[in-house]
Amino acid sequence: MPAANDAEPLLRVRDLEVAFPGARSVLHAVNGVSFDLHRGETLGVVGESGCGKSTIGRALMGLVPDPGRIVGGSIRLEGEELTTLRGDRMRSLRGRRIAMIFQDPMSSLNPVMTIGAQIIESLTIHTRLRGRKAEARAAELLRLVGIPDPVGRLGAYPHQLSGGMRQRAGIAMAISCDPAVLVADEPTTALDVTVQAQVVELLARLRDELGMAIVLISHDLGVVAGIADRVMVVYGGYVIETGRTADVLDRSTHPYTEGLIASRTEIDGARPERLRAIPGAAPALMGPALECPFRERCALAEDVCRDSNPALSPVGDGHEAACHVRAPLTIGALR
Ligand SMILES: Nc1ncnc2c1ncn2[C@@H]1O[C@H](COP(=O)(O)OP(=O)(O)OP(=O)(O)O)[C@@H](O)[C@H]1O
Ligand SMILES: [Mg+2]
Repeated sequence: MPAANDAEPLLRVRDLEVAFPGARSVLHAVNGVSFDLHRGETLGVVGESGCGKSTIGRALMGLVPDPGRIVGGSIRLEGEELTTLRGDRMRSLRGRRIAMIFQDPMSSLNPVMTIGAQIIESLTIHTRLRGRKAEARAAELLRLVGIPDPVGRLGAYPHQLSGGMRQRAGIAMAISCDPAVLVADEPTTALDVTVQAQVVELLARLRDELGMAIVLISHDLGVVAGIADRVMVVYGGYVIETGRTADVLDRSTHPYTEGLIASRTEIDGARPERLRAIPGAAPALMGPALECPFRERCALAEDVCRDSNPALSPVGDGHEAACHVRAPLTIGALR
């Protein structure tokens, strides 16, 4: 493993762009996303369905599905550029230095292999553990993620576990080789509210015990609020607000973030009186946005919002928002 420079974050993403070419047009799913992630830190990536969250996560893993491609920007993991890596080197890093819990828990686990066999397979690929030692480590991982009777459960198939236990097994798989970065894509969405809270708690504990950094993807700001140090709100593949979690939640600046906060479900099980969705649908962008992508749904939209897509602009310490009305730039930066 190349030694990471202390000044360099564990993961450094700059101007990441991902596109899906279609027969007649190109879908721009990720449009200039930048962030840093340091050891032990959790970044929440939040936004509605289709805004590009999973595509960001998959890009970090070098797993953008065909025909999608990373068409711009840089991803550096522990000082190593990933966007230009050879396939075999990326395969060696994937699972070992950066791992992902996929959005569909069934798709990260093989239905016809026991939980134990899957974890042992991953250990065999990435570590020197074999035989009894690999088996003991697999049981240890199941214990670490709070699965009761871990030795017994090594022989269980994914369908024999409850949703919550299956997600724990998926987390055990993902952390089996002690990755520096864990990408967790909607790890709680399929679970009921009480189990959601337990899984978030588990992720926080593992982060602290193992010194991992986490990119936590969720459509639900309430889920990331309890664990994320910083939040990145994404709309149409653009980051429209980012900052420390408390700042983004308590001093949300972008009208879209406000809409998400108003429509969120509470992680402790209490639900707001009425769930308010933001009227309208998130755009699938077929080119760079020439105006504010949220304009058509925005109650505050003014003429200026048609003129250009607002750039992120500082609104507080480490807090930025992209809104012509709420965070106007003194110098008219375009993007
Ligand atoms: N394999 C693919 N081929 C073509 N387009 C894709 C593919 N995967 C994703 N997209 C498009 O990229 C955009 C972003 O999708 P993505 O799955 O990243 O969104 P998301 O924020 O994870 O949504 P959700 O909350 O529903 O999981 C969408 O417009 C989607 O249709
Ligand atoms: Mg997704």
